[in-house]
Amino acid sequence: MASILQFDDEAARRLEKMYTTPDVVAQRAATVEALRPAEGESILDIGAGNGFLAGELGDRVGETGQIVGIDTSESMVAMAQARCADQPWVRFEVGDATALAFGHASFDAAVSAQVFSYIPDVNAALRETYRILKPGGHFVLLDTDWNTMSWNSSDPERMSKIMKIAVSHSADAFLPMTLTPRLMAAGFEIIDRAAFPIFNPEYDPETYSYGLIGMIASSLPTGDGLAQEEVDAWVADLHETGRNGDYFFSINRFIFVARKPA
Ligand SMILES: C[S@@+](CC[C@H](N)C(=O)[O-])C[C@H]1O[C@@H](n2cnc3c(N)ncnc32)[C@H](O)[C@@H]1O
Repeated sequence: MASILQFDDEAARRLEKMYTTPDVVAQRAATVEALRPAEGESILDIGAGNGFLAGELGDRVGETGQIVGIDTSESMVAMAQARCADQPWVRFEVGDATALAFGHASFDAAVSAQVFSYIPDVNAALRETYRILKPGGHFVLLDTDWNTMSWNSSDPERMSKIMKIAVSHSADAFLPMTLTPRLMAAGFEIIDRAAFPIFNPEYDPETYSYGLIGMIASSLPTGDGLAQEEVDAWVADLHETGRNGDYFFSINRFIFVARKPA
């Protein structure tokens, strides 16, 4: 899969650390709040990753409900299964958003956080999500527009080069800008749209952006046009900026709430 991340065991472990930062905990809370899961509901989590969100949704629907998480990565599915082992009504399968292995109208709701920007055929994934929802079912989609990122650096040109390479492996690093017409073309009604900022004005290991430094550095393809020394200097500069008290990071996620008409 083409993305800024290769979702192997190591990426899964790095994500694990990032996903417990207050930034990402708050993002999950905003996603759950947007979905408003009710007891007894069945919900599909598309690209469920390491299962944090599915586990929290499992708590909300309770044992009379059902959460199914699908993901193309076997490592992620294994981690998610282990995390939610004490919630038998939460299960995970390897699967692809563009070819969901479920019948028409089989879920009350669907959610997908930070996944659709990695999918080359987003429109197909939206059509599939629409198909598996019951009439009146809600779909909450959260994704990032990397155009909204500000990250202070003593070398803005190098920052711009590194980020351009990092996001160029996403299928669409600016997806939220075009989501409204895409959702509507798939048949959805738009219920709500909101920006969710992640703002790290301080250098702190317990933040999303601190984890992002290592995540990006470990996934950049060095060689043609990008030397390892450049990546190392980019990493060192961000840490130095932090130690000097000049740290600043900000980015916007966007939360779309859509509904399959009743
Ligand atoms: C950044 S992670 C987000 C994980 C999770 N949704 C969360 O917010 O915690 C992106 C996930 O999408 C999965 N993914 C990418 N393309 C996919 C596809 N076409 N179908 C299903 N999952 C996909 C990846 O394997 C990865 O686990």
